[in-house]
Amino acid sequence: MYVITGATGALGRLVVEALLDRVPASEVRATGRRTEVLADLADRSVDVRRADYDDPASLRSVFADADRVLFVSGTDHEKRLDQHQAVVNALAETSVELVAYTSILHAATSDMVLARSHAATERMLLAAGVPHVLLRNGWYLDNFALTLAAETERGMIGASGTGRIHPATRADYAEAAAIALTGGGAPGDVFELGGPGFTRAELAAEIGRAAGRDVAYTDLSVPALTKTLVGAGIPERLAGLIADSDRGAAAGWLAAGDDLERLLGRPAEPWTAFIHAAVRSTLAPAS
Ligand SMILES: NC(=O)c1ccc[n+]([C@@H]2O[C@H](COP(=O)([O-])OP(=O)(O)OC[C@H]3O[C@@H](n4cnc5c(N)ncnc54)[C@H](OP(=O)(O)O)[C@@H]3O)[C@@H](O)[C@H]2O)c1
Repeated sequence: MYVITGATGALGRLVVEALLDRVPASEVRATGRRTEVLADLADRSVDVRRADYDDPASLRSVFADADRVLFVSGTDHEKRLDQHQAVVNALAETSVELVAYTSILHAATSDMVLARSHAATERMLLAAGVPHVLLRNGWYLDNFALTLAAETERGMIGASGTGRIHPATRADYAEAAAIALTGGGAPGDVFELGGPGFTRAELAAEIGRAAGRDVAYTDLSVPALTKTLVGAGIPERLAGLIADSDRGAAAGWLAAGDDLERLLGRPAEPWTAFIHAAVRSTLAPAS
């Protein structure tokens, strides 16, 4: 049985779909708290079950007969360590063959604040003796579409200097996860995953080309970026994490090699094509 945690979320859902292209639905279990959003999968014979990282009994129940598990990192940064320890404890009680954990690029060495809980989770899996592969995902390219409208109006700000960021689409990370779970990965594998990279100045220039206007990039200090984001209404803690991650990008912690392309057996979706499509749909006049 393939068990997917976080299947109610954007990445997990895509992994379920990628798995259904590879294995029978009767061998796939999709889990999360909001199982109501998985009704269509149940209709397609996927085993839909509730699992909550705060509820160890639910975790033991969904993992009991698991052969291969996708462990999607949780979204609650305050509770993440306890929640992930609960997931690892439940996995350690099983005879699971392989667990794939969605970590972050260079988790073991990165000094980004966001990397700390991922590095800790990687250590938990190791300490518990759970056979696992690490899917160290870079940024989601999808998220760069969320700020396009504002950036084409006011320009882009950041603190990543000339650091290169190597994002990929959730769809590409999801397909890579399905491939890793179905034979592409083996215990001990570490995949540093991301697509072709850009500096923020290159990204701003490409957005400008796609939008037909100049989009400038302004590099700020980490405190200045944090302050500007807070001023724009972003909660202080999140603003700090965003600015710290951009500092990490400047130091090279969000750069990747060709692991994603090798796992996929094809090139990742190019960021330039993604940005042009996103600008077209973001700036398209409403019909
Ligand atoms: N690489 C990046 O750029 C990037 C960006 C943002 C996040 N991330 C990380 O990547 C993960 C997946 O991304 P995504 O886009 O799929 O996020 P998402 O759409 O917000 O999905 C998060 C998933 O985590 C599940 N989850 C959260 N807390 C849980 C809990 N206590 N028990 C069980 N499940 C829980 C949610 O399920 P329910 O709510 O149904 O329980 C949901 O399925 C995120 O959780 C986050 O750790 C990465």
